[in-house]
Amino acid sequence: MKKVLVTGGCGFIGSNFVRHTLQYHSDDRIINLDKLTYAGNPANLKDIEKNPRYRFVKGDICDAALVRRIFAEEQIDTVVHFAAESHVDRSITGPADFVQTNIMGTFNLLEAAREAWLKDGALHQDCRFLHVSTDEVYGSLGETGAFQETTPYDPRSPYSASKASSDHLVSAYFHTYGLPTLITNCSNNYGSYQFPEKLIPLIINNALQGKVLPVYGDGKNVRDWLYVIDHCEAILTVLERGKIGETYNVGGNSEKQNIEVVHTICDILDEKVGWMPDGKSRRSLITYVKDRAGHDRRYAIDATKIRTELGWSPKVTFDEGMKKTVSWYLENKPWIASVTDGSYREYYEKMYGKR
Ligand code: NAD
Ligand code: TYD
Repeated sequence: MKKVLVTGGCGFIGSNFVRHTLQYHSDDRIINLDKLTYAGNPANLKDIEKNPRYRFVKGDICDAALVRRIFAEEQIDTVVHFAAESHVDRSITGPADFVQTNIMGTFNLLEAAREAWLKDGALHQDCRFLHVSTDEVYGSLGETGAFQETTPYDPRSPYSASKASSDHLVSAYFHTYGLPTLITNCSNNYGSYQFPEKLIPLIINNALQGKVLPVYGDGKNVRDWLYVIDHCEAILTVLERGKIGETYNVGGNSEKQNIEVVHTICDILDEKVGWMPDGKSRRSLITYVKDRAGHDRRYAIDATKIRTELGWSPKVTFDEGMKKTVSWYLENKPWIASVTDGSYREYYEKMYGKR
């Protein structure tokens, strides 16, 4: 049985990972350390919070004493590190939190692992430190090509620069100290429990309320879309079979222009709930707005390495994944309301005390 420290397990990908792993994959024990920022919502894991193999700890990955205590108390042998400030737009208006959590927080976790996994003068090689990162560290592509693991780093936003920095620290701990690390760099995730500030849930939420659908610039920026459960499976695969010290790119085989994504959401909603009260399609809500500063034009992933070396490839197509995702948001309107109006705070303050 592994004793897994998941950081940021109350966020979008982390909560999907915790649920998926407990449900399908193992008898592992999971300790979820999450600070509960605006993006972290304990209600995301309400259905599993009483599972005896699960423990939630509210706290900051930058708190060295707390992290050290968790490693000791729980005899942690595996880390899956999701916790981060993750929204590019927020990193443009307030980069300090990104430097603190994404760089200093990762450093702090690496130090705790290095200390805890030292046995007889050498680091225990059966342990694993898996760092979840992003394709954005590689910069922006032109119309052709795709990011490979060997593509030079060229981050352009405070968010991607902070993630690049954390990747370098993880890599340095492997080369310098022999810490058994793994890094995954994935493309844009989508699915259930994503906070409605990112493109897909924001568009679904606004379209349901008849609000403007803001499309940055000309709407032709391209992202590769990865269904979150496919991503969780990729992480589990890398944990089980990945080679220590290596990086694996994870992609969804679904490159789309932003405007195509927005059209898809409008069309699915029109079909599922009918046209708007004014008799118009939700496409009529689309509004082109001022572009994001330094907006990366295109991301694309070459996932040959994880496919050929570890046997993972995405199972869910974009069309299938988008239908599932829109259905989830339709069936979970109270969840959207609770994370956007702040009432979920009452829930967690009752459960876990005030921050
Ligand atoms: P998210 O913003 O939904 O969740 C982040 C979680 O981390 C939240 O629960 C938050 O409370 C927690 N957190 C933030 N600061 C913390 C701190 N100092 N201490 C403890 N917990 C803290 O993020 P996400 O979309 O689930 O992304 C998870 C990871 O995957 C991030 O590292 C992100 O960089 C990476 N990633 C995400 C995407 C994507 O499309 N969402 C794509 C590539 C990589
Ligand atoms: P986002 O979901 O913020 O992810 P990232 O910036 O990490 O790729 O944005 C995805 C794309 O959608 C990106 O090109 C910016 C664009 N976008 C919009 O056009 N409108 C929006 O309201 C948002 C949030 C994003």
